[in-house]
Amino acid sequence: MISSTLLFSSVEEDLRLLTENLKQLVGARHPILYAAAEYLFGVKGKRVRPAIVLLVARTTMPNSKIAEKHRRLAEITEMIHTASLVHDDVVDESELRRGVPTVHSRFNNRVAVLAGDFLFAQSSWHLANLDNLQVVKLLSEVIKDLAEGEIQQGLNGFDTSLSIEAYLEKSYYKTASLIANSSKAAACLSEVSEELTEDFYSYGRNIGLAFQIVDDILDFTASTEILGKPAGSDLKSGNLTAPVLFALEEKPYLEVLIEREFAQEGDLEQALALVADSRGIERSRELATHHAQKAVEYLAPLPVSESRQSLIDLADYVLSRLY
Ligand code: IPE
Ligand code: IPE
Ligand code: MG
Ligand code: MG
Repeated sequence: MISSTLLFSSVEEDLRLLTENLKQLVGARHPILYAAAEYLFGVKGKRVRPAIVLLVARTTMPNSKIAEKHRRLAEITEMIHTASLVHDDVVDESELRRGVPTVHSRFNNRVAVLAGDFLFAQSSWHLANLDNLQVVKLLSEVIKDLAEGEIQQGLNGFDTSLSIEAYLEKSYYKTASLIANSSKAAACLSEVSEELTEDFYSYGRNIGLAFQIVDDILDFTASTEILGKPAGSDLKSGNLTAPVLFALEEKPYLEVLIEREFAQEGDLEQALALVADSRGIERSRELATHHAQKAVEYLAPLPVSESRQSLIDLADYVLSRLY
């Protein structure tokens, strides 16, 4: 696997500062919220989203100089992402995140809901302070999309008639919207042409879709230990993702098992075996590859630079998580 440290090397120092700043920015006065925030940002994730924001900033600024407002945008982006994870883990009743117990299992559901809300609120405040109306609009739409995505996913549980298109739409709301709109916002802050700004949106959208498809494949193929979060949980909870949707086209009995919500003993194991025996994983991998390649196409208009190359490599990194 391509190491993310190597990949993000041109923004590594910026990412280190970001992690430090995040804890301070959250700075909750309430001790429990502070403890939750401290705990959350104490264990860092892969930081893919702020890395993209910082790389877009480098790619679009004269002399590749990242501005203070770009740094703040990167922090806001990671804050929104983290808030969405805290809420997602409550909804999924998931016990593990980033290799440590989730906020709701470490504290309780009430604290987790409030901590997530608090992070969303803090991110909005910092967003408003960027004093850029277009950027405020882009990122506040993301917060709306995240909720929309969770709701869609909740409503579509165990629904075997779900189409790949509906799955991709949900994935846009849950994952790609943040990456697309924060990439676009970074370009806006650099005041580049509208056309280029849209290219960064499309780059982020396709990277985001590839990222979610890969995450959904890994839920089937990787271990809890490697992921730092519970593996094999999507199908069990009725979240039908790309591998299952493709498998359903080949294995009609899978539909029976899912429709009865794995009520009988051995149902889940049998369903997992059917997915493994189908071309579901392979076709999902092809779909992820398609979106990763599409993302890179949108970088074509940019002049060659080290940061542009990192954005290209990032598409490979997303796919390389599968190998
Ligand atoms: C997890 O995102 C949620 C998805 C969109 C799949 P990440 O895999 O980026 O999580 P962290 O930030 O590295 O923990
Ligand atoms: C992405 O979806 C989560 C959010 C964007 C909130 P998942 O539900 O697949 O994320 P994980 O697998 O829990 O990290
Ligand atoms: Mg989840
Ligand atoms: Mg997942």
